[in-house]
Amino acid sequence: MEQYAIKGGSPLVGEIEIGGAKNAALAILAAAIMTDETVTIENMPDVRDTNVLLRAIESVGAVVNRVDRHTVQINGSTINDVVIEDDYIKKIRASYYLLGALLGKYKKAQVVLPGGCNIGSRPIDLHIKGFKALGADVRIAHGLIVAEAERLVGNHIYLDMVSVGATINIIMAAVMAEGQTIIENAAKEPHVVDLANFLNSMGANIKGAGTDVIRIRGVSKLHKTEYSVIPDQIEAGTFMMAAAATKGDVTIKNVIPKHLESISAKLLEIGCEIEESDDAVRVVASKRLNHTHVKTLPYPGFPTDMQPQIAVTLALSEGTSIVTESIFENRFKYVDELTRMGASIKVEGNTAIIDGVPKYTGAHVSAPDLRAGAALVIAGLAADGFSVVDDIVYIERGYEDFDAKLRRLGADIEKVDGEKALQKFKLKVG
Ligand code: UD1
Repeated sequence: MEQYAIKGGSPLVGEIEIGGAKNAALAILAAAIMTDETVTIENMPDVRDTNVLLRAIESVGAVVNRVDRHTVQINGSTINDVVIEDDYIKKIRASYYLLGALLGKYKKAQVVLPGGCNIGSRPIDLHIKGFKALGADVRIAHGLIVAEAERLVGNHIYLDMVSVGATINIIMAAVMAEGQTIIENAAKEPHVVDLANFLNSMGANIKGAGTDVIRIRGVSKLHKTEYSVIPDQIEAGTFMMAAAATKGDVTIKNVIPKHLESISAKLLEIGCEIEESDDAVRVVASKRLNHTHVKTLPYPGFPTDMQPQIAVTLALSEGTSIVTESIFENRFKYVDELTRMGASIKVEGNTAIIDGVPKYTGAHVSAPDLRAGAALVIAGLAADGFSVVDDIVYIERGYEDFDAKLRRLGADIEKVDGEKALQKFKLKVG
């Protein structure tokens, strides 16, 4: 099993480029099968989750043509099946987007119940409520969610909780429904907006994405498009935290600074310098940082997908910080691992009380999920001595060339496979 070997203790310095947003790409890939014409998608991140979804799309008969590493063409005219059973797809949460896409296009879909990161119970009741409101019959049978409808008819849908997945799935199911659908209390995340922009470029009529009321007027069909995925807010935020935690100076290019405001604001608050330009943000941390309070919230609040990374930074900051997780209940599983590196963190319910320590010491830790895995790598880079991070398969679900990008910033990090390679790394970096 592959691991990251890290020798920490040096600041990250330099420039890196951010790739396309994984979470936007997943929604866009699913939506791309909704036309019978060929769709070209650029700035596609080459990460495990998008590759698994592409495989699922091929498994129902769509044609997937990889033009280059970050460009893919999809043609959904040859789809001959609406059943997604691939065992692999269970592992990615966004498999359920194929439910909305296939239901919206063919009025029927059967998709294996999703898994994804183990960060708490992740119900799909709001997705089902939305499909039902549009006239679909939805049931669970033999581990599959089965949705079908004679006709899909627009409706007024109020989401009891802000859900990114439900908002995206309902948009896809409604885009070719008869009449108007209104989604209230919709998610406002950048990837919801990106999906709506993508579908509009295919001829859909979606208004209000980015606000909490989205209006969709059904159209009879969608057509081809060429579209470029937005930059990844969370990949960018992760490198911003890596700069802060290692007391570095990193310019993160190809970003939309507006999407990073909640993260920049917290970094400024704890004493980093932030410079923004049109499509880049520079983070400089020249001294020990200060404590603060953070609460995760739906966009434009502080993202839950950045919670472990900021906690790793705060656990090295002066004083006591409080991090409250309000979206997922099981997102502090990395705390035990971080404690092994010298952090002082107490978790009470959905709150972590963090007493800053001056240094981490390298240790052998395991990535419990995607974002926590990235956070532990940051901890390893900030720590004195060697660290090993196991289970990096989680990290590879959402970060393209994570180790190579970090090396470009001067990090001593390598992917190793077993004890021999680890010893070789240790000898090399001393
Ligand atoms: C998406 C992101 C994930 C991010 C999360 C919150 C993708 C592929 N994943 O996940 O990285 O952490 O948004 O920003 O884009 N809920 C219900 N019923 C439902 C659906 C959700 O109760 O039917 C609850 C969830 O348990 C959670 C909250 O709503 O407490 C938000 O979840 P949601 O926004 O749906 O997250 P995902 O779309 O799964």
